[in-house]
Amino acid sequence: MHKIIILIQYLLLTTTLVTCDFQAPPLSNSFGTKDEKLKAEKQQKFPPCKSCTVFIESFKKGLEKTERGKHEGGDAHWEEKKLGSYKTSELRLVEIQEMLCTDIVRGEQQCHTIAEEHESEIEYWWKHQEEFPDFFKWFCIDTLKVCCPPNRFGKDCLECSDCSGNGVCKGNGTRKGNGKCKCDNGYDGVRCDACGSGYYESFKDETTLLCSECHIACESSCKGAGPRNCQKCKTGWFQKENEGCFDINECMEKSPCNTKSHFCVNNEGSYACLECDKSCSGCEGDGPDMCKECAYGYELRDGMCADLTSEKRDGYVTFTRYCLYLGLCITVCIIFQNSTWLAAIFGLIVGLYISLSEYWLKNNPTPKQPGQEILEAAMGMN
Ligand SMILES: *[C@@H]1O[C@H](CO)[C@@H](O)[C@H](O)[C@H]1NC(C)=O
Repeated sequence: MHKIIILIQYLLLTTTLVTCDFQAPPLSNSFGTKDEKLKAEKQQKFPPCKSCTVFIESFKKGLEKTERGKHEGGDAHWEEKKLGSYKTSELRLVEIQEMLCTDIVRGEQQCHTIAEEHESEIEYWWKHQEEFPDFFKWFCIDTLKVCCPPNRFGKDCLECSDCSGNGVCKGNGTRKGNGKCKCDNGYDGVRCDACGSGYYESFKDETTLLCSECHIACESSCKGAGPRNCQKCKTGWFQKENEGCFDINECMEKSPCNTKSHFCVNNEGSYACLECDKSCSGCEGDGPDMCKECAYGYELRDGMCADLTSEKRDGYVTFTRYCLYLGLCITVCIIFQNSTWLAAIFGLIVGLYISLSEYWLKNNPTPKQPGQEILEAAMGMN
């Protein structure tokens, strides 16, 4: 009986050897904690006018939330009377102040500071809100003097320059800046009423000017769209008489790359040198089938440069596998030499095992070497 157990152990051992696989450990990532991010956002500081605007917005939300008063339902007439007094009551102000700045994340700290430092001004406005209906204007512009009305800038809230709709006024709506225009991309001039360098006028009437980017082949300026309208061609492009700029194929004649290890790829206006497959010594493109010559340790086989060492290893593995099968057959013969029918049954099992494992090997190509897999993942090839 123990002979059979030995045989089964032998079978199990070989099976595990054949199916043994290697798995790379997963890459781990680490992120900053959420709480730290939130804390940093709360402590973020805005410029004076922006922080005042944030405060006003929070106050207005408080106004909205307390609009219906505390009690709902009941006698409509009684409620209206009660609400009427509640609307401008100390009680409502206290309720608003309690929820002030709690609904914002960015700059929460700054909002609380404003609420604390200007408590008396806020109370004053609350009592005189009939006189000053616009809280923002009264508080941020006229009292704290950190903001200006729209289209005004600087200490004295002077009028902004006209930027023709193609730029913004520096300091617009705040007590800062110089009132000059900061033009949008592609626009130029004091009033942003001209096209910048690298742009051309694609539309113009009395009120609007539209500038569009010149074609990438143009050195700086152009008369219109496309490579045909360039004033001058950029490097990497050549001028054809009356036809415009055309891309130079740098890879055409003599490759500008190190031909021992790289191959040339042309692109618009330039070229790139990409690395050859590791099996190549000089190549015309990517992959082991594009080699000019095979690298040391590789040999040309079926139009591809094949790894000699891995091929030798594969040959060795096949050889040992057949030795294993032979060993199995001999073991069965020796163990069961006294009983023909037992030998026949186990011979059949061994035969079946060999056919099955060979079939499995045919349909499952050998896994890549683990080292190579990690390398490919690192280079983002998968
Ligand atoms: C200034 O800001 C207001 C909004 O606050 C905007 O409507 C206006 O177009 C801006 N003006 C300029 C010149 O940037």
